[in-house]
Amino acid sequence: MPIVNEQFYHSAQMKVLRTVRELREAINSHRSAGETIGLVPTMGALHAGHISLVDRARNENDVVVVSVFVNPTQFNNPDDLRTYPRTEEADCRALTDAGVDYAFIPAVEEIYPEPDNRQFDLGPVAEVMEGAMRPGHFNGVAQIVSKLFDFVRPDRAYFGEKDYQQIAVIRRMVELEGFDLEIVACPIMRHPDGLAMSSRNVRLTPQQRQTAPTIHRVLSESLAMVPARSVDEVKSFVVDAIDATDGLRTEYYEIVDSLTMQPIATWSDATSGAAVGCVTVYCGDVRLIDNITYRL
Ligand code: PAJ
Repeated sequence: MPIVNEQFYHSAQMKVLRTVRELREAINSHRSAGETIGLVPTMGALHAGHISLVDRARNENDVVVVSVFVNPTQFNNPDDLRTYPRTEEADCRALTDAGVDYAFIPAVEEIYPEPDNRQFDLGPVAEVMEGAMRPGHFNGVAQIVSKLFDFVRPDRAYFGEKDYQQIAVIRRMVELEGFDLEIVACPIMRHPDGLAMSSRNVRLTPQQRQTAPTIHRVLSESLAMVPARSVDEVKSFVVDAIDATDGLRTEYYEIVDSLTMQPIATWSDATSGAAVGCVTVYCGDVRLIDNITYRL
């Protein structure tokens, strides 16, 4: 358990809760007063992208709970877990400023007093892209998010479209588990140069930070090619343009239906009416993800 100066956080109204029991008790008192609860799950190292979710939750609910928990079960790479940025004091300041009521910041043993062996039948949405590249990742996401939903029973839960596939996976988990809540998908927040905000951006060197906005620039350029050019042509354009940039290497670029997450071969395969191009790019050893929506 990290030693924290609780006094520090009590300067404003936000309460930091460290146990599931405290969390349930706090929520129950609001629930019995008929108040609505919005939940924003995060892994901390908060930036304006996270805060945009918090602002939306603040507008739409009486009470806002933000969880800050670096969930070990969703990391398939031990180095990624080890190097994941942890900035609790700054996070608490940002959440206080954003008017959050409760920050739930548990220790790992509080969430996983024993190993979580649940295997979720997430189906096709979890088999492609991040699901294929990071085995076990989405099952770990389903484990933690289902626990948070169970503890909080929120009316609404907020997720960013930066992790587009994650939202589809969470919707599937909600359906499997029968949670009665609304999943609210929020747009990607970007730096002025187009780079999607991400906790991992702090690991970029100044040089890499200059190069990384190419990812969004190339994705944006590809918008004009749709639907005149084929899906394969757009895919090649994006991969070639990114890989032609010194310091960037695509892991995958997949164009999928916006609901099913299944790769499409032709634009008319996107029966939801929109296709999403999802990219993963290594900038040095930092793995960045981004996406763009092609409305058809
Ligand atoms: P984390 O990466 O901290 O992101 C928390 C939420 O913030 C996610 O819903 C993510 O999509 C959203 N987010 C991140 N960057 C964003 C941006 N630039 N614009 C808009 N939203 C953004 O995603 C996770 O944590 C974890 O997997 C979690 C769901 C908390 C489960 O552990």
